[in-house]
Amino acid sequence: MVVDEGVRALFNPRSIAVIGASRHPGKIGYMILKNILDYGYKGRVYPVNPKADEILGLKAYKRVSEIPDEVDMAVIVVPEKYVLEVAEDAGRKGVKVLVVITSGFAEVGNVEAEEKLVEIARKYGMRVLGPNIFGIAYTPINLNATFGPRDLLKGPIAFISQSGALGIALMGWTIMEEIGVSAIVSMGNMSDIDVVDAAEYLADDPNTKVITIYLEGLKPGTGRRFVEKMRSITRRKPVIVIKAGRSRRGAMAAASHTGSLAGSDQLYSAAFKQSGVLRAYTTDDMFDWARVFATQPLPGGEETIIITNGGGVGVLATDTAEEHSVKLLDPSPGLKEKFRETMPWFGSPKNPVDLTGQAVEENYAKALEVAFESDEIHNIVILYCRTAILDPRSLADTIVEVVKKYGNSKPVVVGMVGGIDTYEAMRKLNQNGIPAYFGAERAVAALAALIKYYRYISKKHG
Ligand code: ACO
Repeated sequence: MVVDEGVRALFNPRSIAVIGASRHPGKIGYMILKNILDYGYKGRVYPVNPKADEILGLKAYKRVSEIPDEVDMAVIVVPEKYVLEVAEDAGRKGVKVLVVITSGFAEVGNVEAEEKLVEIARKYGMRVLGPNIFGIAYTPINLNATFGPRDLLKGPIAFISQSGALGIALMGWTIMEEIGVSAIVSMGNMSDIDVVDAAEYLADDPNTKVITIYLEGLKPGTGRRFVEKMRSITRRKPVIVIKAGRSRRGAMAAASHTGSLAGSDQLYSAAFKQSGVLRAYTTDDMFDWARVFATQPLPGGEETIIITNGGGVGVLATDTAEEHSVKLLDPSPGLKEKFRETMPWFGSPKNPVDLTGQAVEENYAKALEVAFESDEIHNIVILYCRTAILDPRSLADTIVEVVKKYGNSKPVVVGMVGGIDTYEAMRKLNQNGIPAYFGAERAVAALAALIKYYRYISKKHG
């Protein structure tokens, strides 16, 4: 696939100018420059501000065209009334991509200025991200050209967001929730570069394993393109979309937020289905699923086993499995015999495999080994309810050890129920690449998304 130079420059700029870099710490133009420098971007950085000689230790230029170097990306953070003239100057300079943070365009009815901006960009062969965005981060090259938090946890999840606030919130979340990201791209008004352009680039990006998208609406007339391109992208990587503006009032809110036409929800549902996009209905679901795609192998089949120390959570997991079409294995007599040896006499070797409330690390380890070694089992759900005899943190260590021993050969998800130490255990598991969730239902639902994608891929290639 031929990659557009402007889109490439968006993710891999060799040099960046910040037009409207401010001398004042409280301003957005100051924070963006500071984030670029402090997060460790290794390319050349040029502040542009006609009133300053130096900002954050760097020489400032009056305009981009005065910079004695090639400039790949220009982040524009001047008030709306100056945007067109600085864009024109950037075009003359040969900038490849404009990242326009400034608000006050189509989202407030100022369509004319937005069209002019795109016209200028086309004239000079530039691409435009925005306007009305919080910026872009691409962690493999330590690029954080946003006014969100400075630090981001690196990992293989890309997030393309038509909501700035959600994107910024996620940046802090990545560290708290152990969700490692490759890219966070703010789409704003999508005057030029849109969700599809960004997803297409990330589909071939070796640092991204799963693409997540918060979408309010596509531009009129771009539905067919979305389906065609996404169909090809989803064959290469899973794409999870959360579509906001489903309700009538939600659609009105989306129109005044990013100028999007939310459109009929049935049309979007059909488009997602045709293009193999997984649709999530909550942000929790989106990132729960993304976590599995980021860390687990694709299944070798449909048969799933649940291993638990609590009957109740086992039943809840069973309900969720059925609701999400996750096939629960009926273990053969031989396999039941093997599970029987991992539990007290009053446990159950059926599916769910109930190790009972008496279970300790050893029971889980043995049952997990049986599950990994059995050809009947393709997917493993581990559940745990807090008991006084088994510390969840110690169980987490055991799970990590066994999963590592079997080289991540089968998808594993963990659902835990308990107090603060269970959260510590889940954190430990997530840090070690084993997706762990509060509750049986979330774990099974996340696995269900992986299995759904497995079905889609098998059908396409099978
Ligand atoms: N070239 C370069 N620099 C210039 C130029 C120019 N032509 N003209 C002015 N500047 C400088 C200014 O001197 C100033 O620097 P200084 O503070 O050192 O004097 C700097 O550019 C910024 O200009 P201000 O007039 O101070 O503008 P301000 O920072 O108040 O606002 C901004 C600019 C942030 C772009 C504002 O207009 C805006 O659009 N804010 C909204 C941004 C936003 O929310 N985007 C969507 C995010 S998504 C979400 O939901 C979070």
